[in-house]
Amino acid sequence: MSSSISNPLRVGLRQERVISPQCLIIFGASGDLTHRKLIPALFELFLQRRIPSEFAIIGCARRPWSDEEFKNKMSIKLADRIVRNEKEWDKFLDYLFYEPVDLQKEIDVERLSKRLILIDKQQATHGNKTFYLSVAPDYYGSGCKSLKKAGLLDDPTKSRVVIEKPFGRDYSSARKLNRIVQSCADESQIYRIDHYLGKETVQNILVLRFANTIFEPIWNRNYISNIQITSSETVGVEDRAGYYETSGALRDMLQNHLTQMLAVIAMEPPGRFDPEAIRNEKAKVLQASKLANEVEPWECCIRGQYGSGGNETKPLRGYREEPGVDPNSTTETYIATKVLIDNWRWQGVPFYLRTGKRLPKRLGEIVLTFKDVPVHLFESTIINPTQNQLIIRIQPNEGATFKFEVKSPGSGMNSRPVEMEFSYDESFGEPSDEGYVRLLADSMLGDPTLFTRSDEVEAAWKLYTPLIELMENAPWKLPIHKYESITWGPSESDQMLSKDNIFWRRP
Ligand code: BG6
Repeated sequence: MSSSISNPLRVGLRQERVISPQCLIIFGASGDLTHRKLIPALFELFLQRRIPSEFAIIGCARRPWSDEEFKNKMSIKLADRIVRNEKEWDKFLDYLFYEPVDLQKEIDVERLSKRLILIDKQQATHGNKTFYLSVAPDYYGSGCKSLKKAGLLDDPTKSRVVIEKPFGRDYSSARKLNRIVQSCADESQIYRIDHYLGKETVQNILVLRFANTIFEPIWNRNYISNIQITSSETVGVEDRAGYYETSGALRDMLQNHLTQMLAVIAMEPPGRFDPEAIRNEKAKVLQASKLANEVEPWECCIRGQYGSGGNETKPLRGYREEPGVDPNSTTETYIATKVLIDNWRWQGVPFYLRTGKRLPKRLGEIVLTFKDVPVHLFESTIINPTQNQLIIRIQPNEGATFKFEVKSPGSGMNSRPVEMEFSYDESFGEPSDEGYVRLLADSMLGDPTLFTRSDEVEAAWKLYTPLIELMENAPWKLPIHKYESITWGPSESDQMLSKDNIFWRRP
């Protein structure tokens, strides 16, 4: 088995995915993400036999836990998931270690370095290390500096850093952060994670577009009237008010998850199927994207905040009543905006993006609406013209639906829309992996295809700069509209689209 991490450029998505021996070091191991997503994803990889025997997971946080305490905590937190796989979980626990580390303290990082040498020997991990920064975003830069100072990032073939979102708070802070992390590690070592890119259906967009002949010729302004990208959640802010109050829907979802979906939908075909070719195209399309009205950005953006709702048996609190939220908070829990792409393929085609919490359904979907037929020959299409639609369902019930017209049975010549359906579950009979399973494996495999490169992150922030500036300097121009919990957001959002004679799809 090779002792060094594979060359990213040689690892294509289609190659055998055997993870090299290595240590995965998780900073922020006492936080939510570790027990909600990371450890379950690693256990899933273990169950799939994709974790090599020469492996170690080292949890790091400030809490003074021992290895045993860390293992116990994880066992308790994951009790529901391991109940059917207890024997396997016991074996998996052998990979788990813990080291109390404050990344800001040199002495702690030095102690960690020494422990890494010991664990590397004990687990035969060949010096390969993946550092996962699941810490507060303010510590991404200083965390990388500490690792660099301790010499832990020196060998680009043996070490890499995975950085959670949000990467920066705006264009200038993202640029600054990029400069800091790039002064500590080579870009090829930096894996900026966006878990939406790990979702099967988001990846499937690449296959749908570039492994079929029928879509690409019509995937442009000549045939497409508009594109809607939606990510809606039924949950509220839950127990994350501290973070969410400083983030809001723009920074939490729009700038990253929704904009990454836009990039995958709108990018040009890459010349080759390799990480850099794909990321070049994504960066290019993001650089060509702009708000539909940059001079008067309030014309193309609606912000909302959920109020109370629910019913007698399950009343729901409004956002401002949630624990930890400022009772006068102006943080948006809903945002909708209109984006245009200045290039030959998309000139003039509006992309409508919306995301919100406490909406009626948990859903991620991309809807491509095709242009109307030039002449309405049939009576029903004259009265009630319908446009073809391709609906790509990111979640749940991953798949796609194509809506088109057929003749209604009978002697007349009337038509009506029907749906052609593809469902992952029905076609493949097994649920797809969680995004984190895919992305953790890819980061340890050294495959950066599904991670965001520095230029992509910066372009995505730049796109929303007029909105961010407005929110900071003239917030009254981008007011917060209240919406009742479990409704589809503020009516102003519908009005924004109806001005273009377009309506949000009600899934
Ligand atoms: C996270 C956001 O990145 O994505 C959360 O911080 C949000 O606020 C979550 O709930 C949604 O992810 P998913 O995969 O459930 O759609």
